[in-house]
Amino acid sequence: MDFNKAYNEKLTYINHSLENLLKDRDSHPAVLSAMEYSLLAGGKRLRPVLLLSAYELAYLQDNSQKIEITKSELDFILPMACAIEMIHNYSLIHDDLPAMDNDDYRRGKLTNHKVFGEATAILAGDGLLNLAYEVMLENIPDSPQMINNYVKAMSEIAYSAGISGMIGGQIADMENQGEANEEEMLKYIHTHKTEALITASLKAGVLAYNNEPEVLNGVIAYGKALGLAFQITDDILDLTGEFSQLGKATGQDEKMGKQTYPARYGLEKSKVLAREYIDESISCLEPFGTKSEFLKFLSLSILDRKR
Ligand code: IPE
Ligand code: IPE
Ligand code: MG
Ligand code: MG
Ligand code: MG
Repeated sequence: MDFNKAYNEKLTYINHSLENLLKDRDSHPAVLSAMEYSLLAGGKRLRPVLLLSAYELAYLQDNSQKIEITKSELDFILPMACAIEMIHNYSLIHDDLPAMDNDDYRRGKLTNHKVFGEATAILAGDGLLNLAYEVMLENIPDSPQMINNYVKAMSEIAYSAGISGMIGGQIADMENQGEANEEEMLKYIHTHKTEALITASLKAGVLAYNNEPEVLNGVIAYGKALGLAFQITDDILDLTGEFSQLGKATGQDEKMGKQTYPARYGLEKSKVLAREYIDESISCLEPFGTKSEFLKFLSLSILDRKR
């Protein structure tokens, strides 16, 4: 499989849809421009790619004679994939605010509040969070069974982005700045602020299709390992990355006294742990064989990511 080609195809598909979903919204231009500035600023689109891939895996498991899903069959779930990216982007705008991580650069551009001011950045984040649910509700399917699946997927997203998931992790991240690095708290922060939404993307993809237990449990286990590895590599890149590739300042975590894997275990051990979680994620895909090839390559790509 040409993984980069397959990833870029999904990326283009998602970016095109994100543009369309923002277009012609009835709102004040000031908040719309700030939302657009961040949402259309690039980014890996990991979470929507995961959502689409999990939906595809559920579909392929259910249609054993097929080897791929068509674009038109995926179109149904595309708004939900874009919604999860909107939630992610709201979380980044707020994460960068002076009251939180106080960052000046994101995706190689000035952060939202640096360009539009704090009040507008807060509202742009709020706007993206609300728009995510508007977009999903606008695209609720027609048949009762499909509605049922769709709402289950939405509910999973709401739960994992909320106080029991990402927001829970973000508050723990803030509350523990400058505190002694405790293993249990560190894991709580990383699983909640980052892994929760990554796993939710995968779960939502399967739930929106059919809720089949083997696929659902497989992607949950995969997401838990991948999500943790993803945040560990984020911590590592804060130490070893290049601004020109990463698009955000390095050395910030130490400056802010953040709870990170390198701070707790050192750089080399953190790399080993990231590798172990990636291996674990790949082992969760075994039951699905070549149908999960894309997710396998995606997991491997996390280890040597530069951005
Ligand atoms: C950054 O997320 C914040 C974390 C949860 C580590 P990404 O690394 O997915 O950022 P983008 O969307 O590609 O910019
Ligand atoms: C952010 O974690 C997680 C979010 C929910 C936004 P970080 O604060 O480490 O992310 P970066 O390094 O700013 O992208
Ligand atoms: Mg943060
Ligand atoms: Mg940050
Ligand atoms: Mg970070």
